[in-house]
Amino acid sequence: MRTVIKNGRIVTASDDFEGDIYIEDGIIREIGVGLKKDSDILVDAKGKIVVPGGVDAHTHFNLHTGSAAARDDFYTGTVAAACGGTTCIIDHMGFGPSGCRLDHQLNVYHGYAKGNAVVDYSFHGVVQHVDESILNQLIEMISFHGIPSFKIYMTYDYRVKDDDALRFMERLKGLGGITAVHAENHEIINYLRYRFVKEGKTSPLYHALSRPKECEGEAINRIIEIAKMAGDAPLYIVHLTTSVGLKYIEEARDCGQSVYAETCPQYLLLSEEKYREDNNEGLKYIMSPPLRSKGDNESLWNGIQRGYIQVIATDHCPFHFETDKQLGRDDFTKCPNGAPGVEERMPLIFSEGVVKGRISINKFVEVCCTNPAKIFGLYPKKGTIAPGSDGDIVIIDPDRRVKLTQGILHSNVDYTAYEGFELKGYPVMTISRGEIIAKDYEFVGEKGRGRFIKRKTVFNNKHFCL
Ligand code: URP
Ligand code: ZN
Ligand code: ZN
Repeated sequence: MRTVIKNGRIVTASDDFEGDIYIEDGIIREIGVGLKKDSDILVDAKGKIVVPGGVDAHTHFNLHTGSAAARDDFYTGTVAAACGGTTCIIDHMGFGPSGCRLDHQLNVYHGYAKGNAVVDYSFHGVVQHVDESILNQLIEMISFHGIPSFKIYMTYDYRVKDDDALRFMERLKGLGGITAVHAENHEIINYLRYRFVKEGKTSPLYHALSRPKECEGEAINRIIEIAKMAGDAPLYIVHLTTSVGLKYIEEARDCGQSVYAETCPQYLLLSEEKYREDNNEGLKYIMSPPLRSKGDNESLWNGIQRGYIQVIATDHCPFHFETDKQLGRDDFTKCPNGAPGVEERMPLIFSEGVVKGRISINKFVEVCCTNPAKIFGLYPKKGTIAPGSDGDIVIIDPDRRVKLTQGILHSNVDYTAYEGFELKGYPVMTISRGEIIAKDYEFVGEKGRGRFIKRKTVFNNKHFCL
């Protein structure tokens, strides 16, 4: 199959020029001006912006929490991704049975994704306990299964103790992998949660108050120091929300430590006032960490501009407002944590970031496409427009005005956290390996066409630098 995209403004993390792209058998073969090629699919991109397909490095499809199951599976979730301009996702596997092997959840997740996903995908490993057996399984996960990133949690039931985090990071560093960390101080959060409940303070606001910004700052600082003690083990902080956390990341990076940070649109565009809304609307925004202040929003934008935050992902984890989220109606601790966002990410960051002048268009591509692919071993197959890369392309109409509302979105859930956002510029076509899979807000591809990608390690390459 031959696809030609003509006359577009092609933007990558480093370039911005008018030209044509020729894709054959799913791979970009040539980029140039006035390319003369036969094609099966011809796309005229005059007046449009042509960027690499988005890479969302943090989704939770098929996630089962104790009280509810996230509403998107790998079909509905990746359809939403495709319609929003994301052509590759890396899903965080949920916890398995106590004591299970690392490949237990991998097999479960392959079962979830195969035959369902419509964009290409991978998984992050999840670490629920650390012992010699788990550490010995890492090599097989990386070399055989193509999973070089693993997440540990500093909170929740399967949190990992500091000494186990050190052991784990030491071993993973030796193998060239990277540890992703949900960093919040569990003990303090637990104490505050139950104190508030005892005092009858059970509204959504107390979800935020029970997870103060210092809990994130302290945990980020602690895990950065542990990574340093592990011999500068590569560390990726997921869903950064605060300026205090960012300060520790900045200090570490300024000293040359291999620390990377991800934030999400909700922490850039929404703030804690949401928890004070009437009719328990605040339940929609119960996620961990919680929404923060407007000042934090601005600090994070600033951290992106200055290169201290490398990735914008989503933490997409959708629950129905009218049913699932109502579990927390009388007690915020009972509300399933998470919100949708996989479809909204690229349009929101383009409109709120690029169009509003907060970040450059190259930075948009860098944080939404290129850097996640680089950090997680997908680059240059994913994350850029270059000969040899997969033909994953998104065409943005910079003049298209869209009011975000649940009705136009595809996640299997009954609300969007960004209802009413007036966006300028929107993805109007998503191409995956040369095939048009979404057009004018609708999915036009086939169920199950997405492929699992075995990822590579990048941190044993001394030239890796980001
Ligand atoms: O509230 C959230 N973020 N739910 C998903 C799980 C996690 O901690 O990332
Ligand atoms: Zn998390
Ligand atoms: Zn998450």
